[in-house]
Amino acid sequence: MRRPLVAGNWKMNGSREMTKALVTGIAADLPSQCGTDVVVCPPYVYLDMCRELVGEGEISVGGQDLDVHEPGAFTGEIAADMLLDVGCRYVIVGHSERRSLYAETDQRVGQKVSAASAKGLIPIVCVGETREEREDGVTAEVVRRQLGVVIETAGINIFPKALVAYEPVWAIGTGLTASESQAQEVHALIRAQLSDASEQAAAGTRVLYGGSVKPDNAAGLFSQPDIDGGLIGGASLKAADFLGIIKAATS
Ligand code: 13P
Repeated sequence: MRRPLVAGNWKMNGSREMTKALVTGIAADLPSQCGTDVVVCPPYVYLDMCRELVGEGEISVGGQDLDVHEPGAFTGEIAADMLLDVGCRYVIVGHSERRSLYAETDQRVGQKVSAASAKGLIPIVCVGETREEREDGVTAEVVRRQLGVVIETAGINIFPKALVAYEPVWAIGTGLTASESQAQEVHALIRAQLSDASEQAAAGTRVLYGGSVKPDNAAGLFSQPDIDGGLIGGASLKAADFLGIIKAATS
């Protein structure tokens, strides 16, 4: 049985005030031993504050990206060691916004996953097709290629500790969610690809769905056999919505 995980990707949103209100709001109403792993991924500058706010409670903290290098002369970048230093357990890697807006290649994503895992951070590896790719009928191929490069570069042994997040690009921030069966179909392909490399990886790896997950569609998505939780954007910025999604994962 895979333990569900719900992660909030705040993207480039927040302030000190909002961080405090949101994190304390989530912590206040999170049932103890809720049965779901809960992660918040604020912008880098609020990680430290977030970590202090969550204390030894149930909420973990994650970065939204990292650099592949050891600390050194890389202006503007953040190393795995720094994320660990401020108490991160997780890091999102290869989000579609990084791929499309910051030119991250499959190879670079593979290297980042490898760098994160080597340091003991748990990568949440994002994969997913664009609207054009879905319309062209190449969803399976695109997701297979993206995950394939990660397996090749970082090795299958990073799983099941690493997670995969299937985020169809056309469903991100658009209000369009993949239907339960559309999502399940791709999640099953992801699990089959892991299974080709390792049965243990396939059985243990949590595959999250992301893309316009809200409290009212979360339960249906999470009830699918290969969907083990969610990577949440917009709805993770409101404590009540995020808590509603966590509740859906738990029940
Ligand atoms: P939305 O939940 O806002 O669609 O964003 C999803 C996402 O990109 C999470 O990483």
